[in-house]
Amino acid sequence: MKVQVCIIGGGPSGLLLSQLLHLKGIDNVVLERQSRQYVLARIRAGVLEHGFAALMREAQCGERMDREGEIHDGFLIAHDGVMDRVDLHTYSGGSSVVVYGQTELTRDLYEARDKLGGKVIHNVEDVALHDLKSDAPYVTYRDGDQINRIDCDYVIGADGFHGVSRKAIPKDVLREYERVYPFGWLGVLSRTKPVSPELIYAKHERGFALCSLRSQVLSRYYIQVPLEDKAEDWSDEAFWAELKARLPEEVAAKLVTGPSIEKSIAPLRSFVAEPMRWGRLFLAGDAAHIVPPTGARGLNSAASDIYYLYHALLDHYQNGDEAGLDGYSAKALARVWKAQRFSWWMTTMLHRFPGNLPYEDKLQQTELDYLFSSDKALSSLAENYVGLPF
Ligand code: FAD
Ligand code: DHB
Repeated sequence: MKVQVCIIGGGPSGLLLSQLLHLKGIDNVVLERQSRQYVLARIRAGVLEHGFAALMREAQCGERMDREGEIHDGFLIAHDGVMDRVDLHTYSGGSSVVVYGQTELTRDLYEARDKLGGKVIHNVEDVALHDLKSDAPYVTYRDGDQINRIDCDYVIGADGFHGVSRKAIPKDVLREYERVYPFGWLGVLSRTKPVSPELIYAKHERGFALCSLRSQVLSRYYIQVPLEDKAEDWSDEAFWAELKARLPEEVAAKLVTGPSIEKSIAPLRSFVAEPMRWGRLFLAGDAAHIVPPTGARGLNSAASDIYYLYHALLDHYQNGDEAGLDGYSAKALARVWKAQRFSWWMTTMLHRFPGNLPYEDKLQQTELDYLFSSDKALSSLAENYVGLPF
């Protein structure tokens, strides 16, 4: 097969780019290691920036998001016996976020790809990237006993943190920056009414908790847990009891519990790989960077990569202009690092760090005291949470 762009990974990054390029007549294929059912069973992000929502509309995938997604003008932070509100609308100068699950968004992208007859190949094995430094790169994959080859102009590595694309960049070129946190988030999805119409981020001496939602009948809750914990060792009852213990009493009293539909643990990690381009390979999304989920930046950072890459490829194919492709890595990384900073800051402010000095605990408390006493600090939080401009 010969295409202009070969995209590795059928997560939100790969599918969105595929759809946007297809609409502009740029021929592409998506190679995904898992089945569609597997990809759609993942429960991940829930908060989208408006820049992402606009890109979904441009990809002709925004209809259900606009119908079913919720606009949130603010969220709450419970700490030290009080509950403070971050008024995103006021402090960001009129912006907000869209609450719409990654699972639904991915479903919309798959349906849009089907409708246009997009090429998405599932269950591919042994994907390998070749001749990335030449003008004629190609990708091979195994389908049963058969090795297939895709010739292309460009390869997009949108295959997540554990993908193969990043590893195709030589070790003496690739720089990796990483911080692994000594805890994870245990997440539960339940078909229950959310405890609060707005998200509640809770800092508590037992550990962090987050009350989020997917709709008015579907709740998503998280609690900070030690890295060694296993999701299967947490019964639903134990989860609800621990969540309640970390929430303000008046919130805990209102919490509607029910059977978990999904329960999983995500370790918390900060990670950036530089550069995001090597020869004809361009990395996007989790393949190049990971944030701890506290600031809801992960998926949104993937979207800004796709925005830059889409426009760079358009400039190349429509105008013969290489500036976008040449500048992609630097431009994407500048925004990625700001998302890293914000996610690290939110995580540090709200979690319990085992082994912290009493001095560090005091600083953590002071960070929140300062935040809610300063309009400028709240403005900084709000502009980052709603998303910095692309
Ligand atoms: P992915 O979604 O990882 O997609 C990559 C795709 O590539 C996958 O479908 C994978 O199967 C495929 N693939 C991998 N290797 C290969 C290969 N060799 N060949 C072909 N295909 C391959 N962000 C938030 O903002 N809020 C959250 O609450 C949140 N929760 C998260 C929870 C978990 C457990 C994880 C892992 C991430 C979470 N994130 C969250 C981050 C967010 O989900 C990611 O930023 C987002 O999924 C990135 O999309 P992506 O398409 O770049 O990568
Ligand atoms: C969700 C996850 C987050 O990390 C976050 O900051 C907000 C919401 C969620 O899954 O709903």
